Amino acid sequence: MKTTNTPQVSAEQIAREEELVERVLASFDNTPDERLKYLLRELTTTLHDYVRRVRLSEQEWNLAIDFLTRAGHITTPTRQEFVLLSDVLGVSMQTVAINNEAVGNATEATVFGPFFANDSPFVPLGGDIAGGGSGEPAWVEGTVTDIDGRRIPNARIEVWEADDDGLYDVQHEDYEVYGRAHMFSDENGEYRFWGLFPTPYPIPYDGPVGDLLRATERSPYRASHLHFMVTAPGYRTLVTHIFVRGDELLDTDSVFGVKESLIHDWTHHDASEPTPDSRVIESGTWAQTRFDIVLAPGDAIDHTNLMS
Ligand code: BEZ
Ligand code: FE
Repeated sequence: MKTTNTPQVSAEQIAREEELVERVLASFDNTPDERLKYLLRELTTTLHDYVRRVRLSEQEWNLAIDFLTRAGHITTPTRQEFVLLSDVLGVSMQTVAINNEAVGNATEATVFGPFFANDSPFVPLGGDIAGGGSGEPAWVEGTVTDIDGRRIPNARIEVWEADDDGLYDVQHEDYEVYGRAHMFSDENGEYRFWGLFPTPYPIPYDGPVGDLLRATERSPYRASHLHFMVTAPGYRTLVTHIFVRGDELLDTDSVFGVKESLIHDWTHHDASEPTPDSRVIESGTWAQTRFDIVLAPGDAIDHTNLMS
């Protein structure tokens, strides 16, 4: 089996392959949009280089076409298999990295994911975003500041998360909203809310992306996390998560979304211990963490139109 490549091909064969690449590149010469022209030329160069380097067989080409066809067939308005493919190949995270350049101590961004929903309920500061979702109650608080430490009042903070069965509300057919809400930072740039201690869950793996994960003996599981999207005029929209220090899945997150700076310490307390806002927890435990959000200067970006 060919697993590496030092192709033993003749000079004539190399010349034929290179001539084809040149002809495809030339076919884009009249593209009026310079950026589109550049993107297509680079794509052509990279794709042909790959095909030639791995000496792609016709059977492998067919398998790839079949894979993409199945990705297309399983894709619906609520299931985007191509984004999922981009996620498990790390392309989504690379795009996030390129588009969220490091600025001072601005909070790092990570993948948007498919489970955001518009029109989340508003909760006042200190309110409960769990909305009846099951799990360990968790108190989350922090500040929203700029990179110079100035507090940002009235920032819109969207949060969403799975319940302790690893499911988001939108994965149920009953349309009951839970585990999501939005709120606004107060005049001191502070925020606080009750949510659920995050649990790990698998990305959808009943389609071709799941087949790819199985074929490569990779887990579909994401490390436990809580999603945030924070917007304020004059600042770059921040799409991120916070993770849980000690979570065994941090190193194998299926979509490469974990960044060290986003791993947080969470404490667990017996129900009998007083809570920050004197809420009474009947039984079990409650958790607590702090997440100070730092926004980079920039523009708002509508991530809901970007899909991931
Ligand atoms: C999520 O965290 O919600 C997610 C991200 C990427 C793919 C699937 C799910
Ligand atoms: Fe998620």
